Amino acid sequence: MIIAIDGPAASGKGTLAKRIAKHLALPHLDTGLLYRAVGQRMLDAGEALDNEEAATRLAEALTVDWLADARLRSAEAGKAATAIAIIPALRSALRQFQVDFARQPGGAVLDGRDIGTVIAPEADVKIWVTASPAVRGRRRFLELSPRDPTVSEAQLIADLEARDARDAPNMVRAPDAFVLDTTDLDRDAVLEAALAIIAAGRP
Ligand code: DC
Repeated sequence: MIIAIDGPAASGKGTLAKRIAKHLALPHLDTGLLYRAVGQRMLDAGEALDNEEAATRLAEALTVDWLADARLRSAEAGKAATAIAIIPALRSALRQFQVDFARQPGGAVLDGRDIGTVIAPEADVKIWVTASPAVRGRRRFLELSPRDPTVSEAQLIADLEARDARDAPNMVRAPDAFVLDTTDLDRDAVLEAALAIIAAGRP
């Protein structure tokens, strides 16, 4: 049972994937963490983010313990991840880790941008999670503003749109993915809709 959850940043896919995994007692991989881990190590090593060889070498060396670094959730790690994620050799270096996770006995839930197309095109259920830019910006604002009162909602929306543009080549909706638009749904309604999709689509 492989469940592929893809979609843009701040669409709600990470929260949804975590909740589905808990509900179905399946292991979960947030694949953005792999890109963030490599991005963070590039920053730590003082490497330029367009150094494709250095980034690919780090991706080849990645191990599961890199993913536990609390700094990976930072905006800096996210920006570095977006920058290095466009390197094709790096993407193929990170592919096997994700494929192995997806194919473990019993199944798994993975969330990212290309799970349903590149990592697990054979997934039993594919969900493409989306929401309007305004709502994604609002959610990000509510998440970040308690920690940083200087953040601007308009700036967050602009950042998300810039990120979508950069992620676009590797963010492809599988033709057989169910589209789940979370613009007007709260967390529980999103989970409920996803579980209905899974119940209808599972083998
Ligand atoms: O989902 P996230 O914010 O953790 O992702 C960080 C960056 O990693 C994102 O800008 C694009 C990249 N990414 C990717 O290219 N493919 C994935 N499957 C997951 C993330």
